[in-house]
Amino acid sequence: MPSFISVIRIMQCHYPMGLRADFIEGAYHEEFEKYPPGEVERRVEARRQKLDRLKDRIRESGLPLREGYRDSEQLGDWVLEDLQKIIDRDFPEGSRPSKVAREAFDQYLYAQRLTRAYVGGEKYFQQLDDHLNHDTLPLVVLGESGLGKSTLLAKWALDHQQANPSDVVIMHFIGSTRASADWVAMLRRIMGELKQTLDIKEEIPTRTEELSAASLAGCIKQVLKGGSF
Ligand SMILES: Nc1ncnc2c1ncn2[C@@H]1O[C@H](COP(=O)(O)OP(=O)(O)O)[C@@H](O)[C@H]1O
Ligand SMILES: [Mg+2]
Repeated sequence: MPSFISVIRIMQCHYPMGLRADFIEGAYHEEFEKYPPGEVERRVEARRQKLDRLKDRIRESGLPLREGYRDSEQLGDWVLEDLQKIIDRDFPEGSRPSKVAREAFDQYLYAQRLTRAYVGGEKYFQQLDDHLNHDTLPLVVLGESGLGKSTLLAKWALDHQQANPSDVVIMHFIGSTRASADWVAMLRRIMGELKQTLDIKEEIPTRTEELSAASLAGCIKQVLKGGSF
């Protein structure tokens, strides 16, 4: 709920003279030096009319509007109040995403960033699809550093998820986020995501000693069999 008149007022205060001149209702110092008196008044009147029209348009827009602030202090309080209301409305108390959801989102953003200017790779997509559809073993993609392995897999995974929204796709790029290279955090995250997405009731082991690659493999096997952890 922005206060538009307030915004105009802010522009009056902070914009360089050349830009803000259009928003000044009265005559200003430089005008008296530059123009004869009649011309100054004509310019002031033209500006006032233009501003009135703009303010009317804003009032008629039906957007939330606050007018008549006392001074810049009060204007500042109103703007802050309005912004806080928007934040509280969009992110109410208790809506904080879980750690698992946050990490998943960060990984998703990383994949988006990697693939922003993606070119080529079509022949590999077919191979990856074939592997997914006909093989149950894990697939390792090997290649020199910087060759584009992560980018290829990110692009394929994002496209696959979009085309198959009900498939569970979990992306994890080591080094993409602060927590991503910690193997315990990684296992917890992947298991947490499986638990959340597939609505598994069993708890994830809390003790680090209980977590291992084998425990993740066991968990995935269970999930694939339609069971739980
Ligand atoms: N097919 C592609 N199209 C556009 N950019 C790419 C492509 N493959 C890789 N890149 C860019 O090259 C860089 C290295 O790729 P990356 O996938 O991280 O390599 P790797 O995982 O093999 O070490 C990244 O910045 C990525 O955005
Ligand atoms: Mg990589």
